[in-house]
Amino acid sequence: MTKKAAINWDQLGFDYIKTDYRYLSFWKDDQWDGGTLTEDNVLHLGEAAPCLHYGQQCFEGLKAYRTKNGDIQLFRIDQNARRLQDSCDRLLMPTISEETFIKACVDVVKANEAYIPPYGTGGSLYIRPMMIGVGNSVAVKPANEYIFTVFCMPVGAYFKGGLTPVNFMVSDYDRAASNGTGQQKVGGNYAASMLAHQIAVEKGYADCIYLDPTTHTKIEEVGAANFFGITKDNRFVTPASPSILPSITKYSLLYLAEHVLGMAVSEEDVFIDELDQFTEAGACGTAAVITPIGGIFHHNRLHIFYSESEVGPVTKKLYDTLTAIQLGDLAGPEGWI
Ligand code: COI
Repeated sequence: MTKKAAINWDQLGFDYIKTDYRYLSFWKDDQWDGGTLTEDNVLHLGEAAPCLHYGQQCFEGLKAYRTKNGDIQLFRIDQNARRLQDSCDRLLMPTISEETFIKACVDVVKANEAYIPPYGTGGSLYIRPMMIGVGNSVAVKPANEYIFTVFCMPVGAYFKGGLTPVNFMVSDYDRAASNGTGQQKVGGNYAASMLAHQIAVEKGYADCIYLDPTTHTKIEEVGAANFFGITKDNRFVTPASPSILPSITKYSLLYLAEHVLGMAVSEEDVFIDELDQFTEAGACGTAAVITPIGGIFHHNRLHIFYSESEVGPVTKKLYDTLTAIQLGDLAGPEGWI
């Protein structure tokens, strides 16, 4: 049924690859239609669609994994369904039920099964659900029509190098306002990050670190991922902030660090001037998985954590545990798969 072209599974990065089917559903007259799978990857929008002018849109990111025995697994999809509902609420968009969200993603994965990277390649099928405000309406108010769609594509590492550490620089730009939409997965947060990202890349860094928008003293996010650090006394620490995205990977790591690795864990302020407390640091997220942070450049100095070329032992253990669960090699907590 699928028309998959030859894909070099070992060379996958994080670029768009058109797959065969996507889910498409329309909201009109206060209700969703039944939704359908379609082969057409082009959306047809009115020129005054609020998503185009005022950014009334939100999205999710999750992955499907091929296990050793050939099964397909999704990781904590209920959490993505709930986070999308939260983003929809924040932007006054209609919500999608958890059941519909899961069915749409599962249908898309099944229809594009040939694109799921084989076990052992390090790749996975990235699933991108999104909702956009459409219909023509130029006043700044919620749209009167919406599209919910889900597409997918095979991916490898988000940051080149995968488990090899990369360096980041602290940005002068803020990612999100303190009482804005930083906690929601909305496109505007990411549009606002592109210039900072480009500056970091031009200077030779993988991406930038954002500080809190109020005091500029505390770490918030690492590019499009969350931050964590391992302290000298072996605690797993990640920033507490009302303006960072509640990463499902981050909450999974908080659980695994505590219950599998037996570490103390904490969501707390992480001051940029107190990086010395950490022996290891990393970026985590669905796309980034766990990317070790070699060093952070700030105030004309590169602060190195464990190493610029080797992953630290705790980060490696967390990575191995998380990915073993995602790939079906290790049983995870009830409901994660
Ligand atoms: C994810 O980790 O799924 C993300 O959405 C990050 C990014 C690619 C936008």
